[in-house]
Amino acid sequence: MKFDVNNEDLVGRSTPDPLRFAFTRKKSPHAGAMMQTIKEDAIQASLQKAHASSSEIYFPRKEHSKPPSIFSNDGSARCLYLHIPFCRVRCTYCHFFQYASSSSLMDDYVKALREEIRWKASTVWAQSAPFHAVYIGGGTPTDLSAEQIYTLVSDVRSLFPLTPDCEITLEGRVNRFELDQFEFALKAGVNRFSFGVQSFNTLVRKSAKRQDNKEEVMKKIQLLSSYQAAPIVLDLLYGLPYQTLDIWEEDLQGYLESGAQGVDLYQLIELNGLPMAKMVEQGKLPPPADTQMKASMFEMGVNFMAKHHQTRLSVNHWSSNHRERSLYNTLAKTSAEIMPLGAGAGGNVNGYQMMQTRDMKTYIDAIKNKAFPVTTLSRVPSSKGVSSEIKSGFDAGVLAQSQLDKAAGAGTFEALSPLFEAWQKNGLVHLERHQAQRSYLKLTLAGQFWTVNLAQNLIDVLRTQKASPL
Ligand SMILES: C[S@@+](CC[C@H](N)C(=O)[O-])C[C@H]1O[C@@H](n2cnc3c(N)ncnc32)[C@H](O)[C@@H]1O
Ligand code: SF4
Repeated sequence: MKFDVNNEDLVGRSTPDPLRFAFTRKKSPHAGAMMQTIKEDAIQASLQKAHASSSEIYFPRKEHSKPPSIFSNDGSARCLYLHIPFCRVRCTYCHFFQYASSSSLMDDYVKALREEIRWKASTVWAQSAPFHAVYIGGGTPTDLSAEQIYTLVSDVRSLFPLTPDCEITLEGRVNRFELDQFEFALKAGVNRFSFGVQSFNTLVRKSAKRQDNKEEVMKKIQLLSSYQAAPIVLDLLYGLPYQTLDIWEEDLQGYLESGAQGVDLYQLIELNGLPMAKMVEQGKLPPPADTQMKASMFEMGVNFMAKHHQTRLSVNHWSSNHRERSLYNTLAKTSAEIMPLGAGAGGNVNGYQMMQTRDMKTYIDAIKNKAFPVTTLSRVPSSKGVSSEIKSGFDAGVLAQSQLDKAAGAGTFEALSPLFEAWQKNGLVHLERHQAQRSYLKLTLAGQFWTVNLAQNLIDVLRTQKASPL
């Protein structure tokens, strides 16, 4: 294989402190693969075809199994993603904001979404195999009323085939999420809650336009966790303005104090055009943390979780007990299929990857006319499995030789050894050599911090080979 092991962009800098200095900055929020786009006038016909047959990946099994069973033993999994594009107030750092919550717009939206659920659930593709995880994300789904949450989840459960242990997550925040909404969600079948806390510190929160103070957030999470009815999982962000290392340590302590069953530690990604960037420019906010400071915060987070015996589920996710599985987040990084529902939802179905329109009116009109509300559609290349395996391995903190060779072809791991050795020399990985194609590439702490760069670099190297598996 051809690649330049002296290229610092590829192998990182040779430095005594790779955690802080191996690369200049995180490449992008997530590593990605190249897609082949479908022309606009062919979108509807392609999608009709994709939904009119069983999942291609299930096809071999279908020939052997006896109807009406739809359970498979071929190891493949699939998910549903429902998008709720509303928030009461836009947080300064967030790129997910779409619409301000208004009850009449939300009513119209939920009506259209229920229509889309009914329609898509009736397709051959949807009924051909069970779904393993459902994620209701946003935006802020916890801004929906108790009845809206109940009807949406009940529709999903009654109309789609789900596995008996299907994970059903409701995302949002604790601000104005009251016990009636929580109990209706539980009654409808939600069995996991993911709340964005970002920081418990009141100054950090208020300057990011988060509504509640530390005491209010803590009290609510402690109350919801004390039900022991479903795992409560928190998102914490590191690198926000005013968030010093001391405050970050208090945030980590806050997770333990809250009694939540899991936590994600996300590094703040600064994207152009966020309100935060403007406020910093105007001198209304101090700048967010630089890359080196974020690396120190990551290090503190990893050490804190180890010290308190939290179970690590991925490079940035931990759980406090066996209840939290984080199934959707894990599957979404593999080549599992995801049916998208709602304005702004993305997914991949039967060989196609799609993004649904973010525009509310276009979305509602399309659903009324039974047209797929899709703005961009691409053919998923057969190589998607390779980039997914790489991404999911790096996300788990270890890439197995057997996993890479199965996806990209026998001998791939070995052929990449010079690259892995260069990464090892630069303190980013440990290459664990074992007999019988059972070697592993294990990320060091520095490698975990730079995981997206490493995954993307590996995907790029494979893509540029003459006999590319990508
Ligand atoms: C789609 S948001 C929904 C969360 C929920 N609405 C809330 O208010 O917390 C999911 C998560 O994305 C993360 N996020 C948002 N903006 C981010 C950014 N600029 N960089 C990194 N993570 C970000 C936050 O941690 C957030 O909890
Ligand atoms: S963090 Fe949540 S509430 Fe805040 S803007 Fe983003 S999606 Fe909306």
